[in-house]
Amino acid sequence: MSPLWRGLRHALAATGPAWAALLLAPLVRAPAAESEPPKPASPAADNGLCYVCHLTMQTDEITVKHLAEEITCAKCHGKSDEHMHDEMLMTKPDRLFGRKQVEAMCVECHDDPHAAKQAEVKAFLEEWHGRDRPNGRAVTATSICTDCHGTHVVARQTLAKQAEAAGWVSLLNGRDLTGWKASPDDGWKVDRGRIAAQVRAPVAAAELWSEDVYADFLLAVTFRRQGQVKAGIWLRGQPAAPGLRVEIVAGGKPPLTGSVSVSGQVLALVNLREDLLDDEGWNTLAIEARGGRITVRLNDAEIGAVVHDGPAEGRLGLHAEGHGEFVVREILVQRLGSAPAAPAGRVTD
Ligand code: HEC
Ligand code: HEC
Ligand code: HEC
Ligand code: HEC
Repeated sequence: MSPLWRGLRHALAATGPAWAALLLAPLVRAPAAESEPPKPASPAADNGLCYVCHLTMQTDEITVKHLAEEITCAKCHGKSDEHMHDEMLMTKPDRLFGRKQVEAMCVECHDDPHAAKQAEVKAFLEEWHGRDRPNGRAVTATSICTDCHGTHVVARQTLAKQAEAAGWVSLLNGRDLTGWKASPDDGWKVDRGRIAAQVRAPVAAAELWSEDVYADFLLAVTFRRQGQVKAGIWLRGQPAAPGLRVEIVAGGKPPLTGSVSVSGQVLALVNLREDLLDDEGWNTLAIEARGGRITVRLNDAEIGAVVHDGPAEGRLGLHAEGHGEFVVREILVQRLGSAPAAPAGRVTD
């Protein structure tokens, strides 16, 4: 584990229950922080420790076929003790495989796997060509092993109980863009429980505005990017007057993730800490908007705060530009303050 992840975990543990509950919210079912996973009788050939959270892996072909050969999760991903016992769920497993590395790892054991199955593979390709399999992957002539075999993917789960109890609400339902308004033809789609913007010419920028308005709030956006896409989130804005934006991913440097701009220009806060961003994986940007004060944290390290004299409430607006893909896994929000809520604060137009 990199010192970065270790540091984040400790920083997080110190920040109190609200942010802690937020990070218990990710996709797979998280046990209560204090409950230790049960100890299996024979750890060497048992996936029990991993199933505690990765429930859906129990029926996946890659898992099942290999477990029968005593090839456990740990054989492929490493023992991953720190990942497993990280109640904040921020430490990665020991060994991960990018898309380009999958084939090489499989053929270590499966030299020419289809020698006796040419006809089956051909029929399979014809049946599934260009369509999504149950694992959400499309089957094409350049598919990798795990596109065709198994459902070895993280399934998005609803918000964990702890997070709900702590007042967090997920703004993504994982199926469609309910609650959001996208400008036409701008490439937002829902894919495997996540929302993604595919930005390319002639679209200059993709925007996605919340239907609800928010005054004071805690907000957490968990994201990843591919390519040279730039993205940010407008706070208390409106499509015609977006206002203040926290950069989520930025091309040049500065500004870097977590920097704050006003009307897309003035940098009210600049994050110079490049090390806080995990360019390969998921990152969480956490924003607190309380009165005029906006505080920004990235992977739970505080970047800073700005005081902004803008509207007291408005919508949240995701913004992406450049060229590439911007993927958001989770947007959680918690309203602050005791103002008796107008019926869900919804604005119709
Ligand atoms: C305490 C709960 C918990 C346990 C136990 C656990 N995981 Fe995870 N794991 C998670 C969460 C939460 C994620 C994040 C899901 C995501 O990124 O969508 C995750 C993600 C992963 C990923 C993908 C990481 C990435 O960034 O792509 C791998 C691989 C993984 N776990 C392997 C394992 C293995 C192997 C074990 C058993 C040795 C294990 N996990 C045990 C909670 C757990
Ligand atoms: C450490 C060695 C090892 C690695 C790495 C490995 N496998 Fe296997 N796999 C086996 C063994 C052993 C079997 C059972 C014997 C067989 O069917 O080939 C098996 C079985 C399978 C089966 C079931 C075959 C059947 O007869 O139904 C599939 C599918 C499979 N592996 C795919 C993969 C994929 C995809 C990868 C890469 C993600 C992978 N394997 C990585 C060793 C390995
Ligand atoms: C285009 C889809 C596709 C891709 C890509 C693919 N497979 Fe397969 N594979 C199949 C089909 C279909 C079969 C035959 C049905 C079955 O046995 O599950 C098969 C069979 C197998 C078998 C069982 C062979 C046997 O003789 O019983 C193994 C092992 C296997 N694949 C491993 C792999 C590995 C490793 C990779 C990547 C290097 C891979 N597959 C890539 C579709 C695919
Ligand atoms: C034979 C080796 C092998 C075994 C056994 C194995 N994995 Fe994996 N795992 C992989 C590879 C390779 C990938 C990357 C697959 C891809 O990106 O298509 C992966 C990806 C993952 C991911 C990320 C999926 C995503 O959506 O990004 C998770 C989570 C995961 N594994 C958990 C587990 C758990 C839990 C177990 C045991 C129950 C396990 N794996 C067993 C090889 C293995």
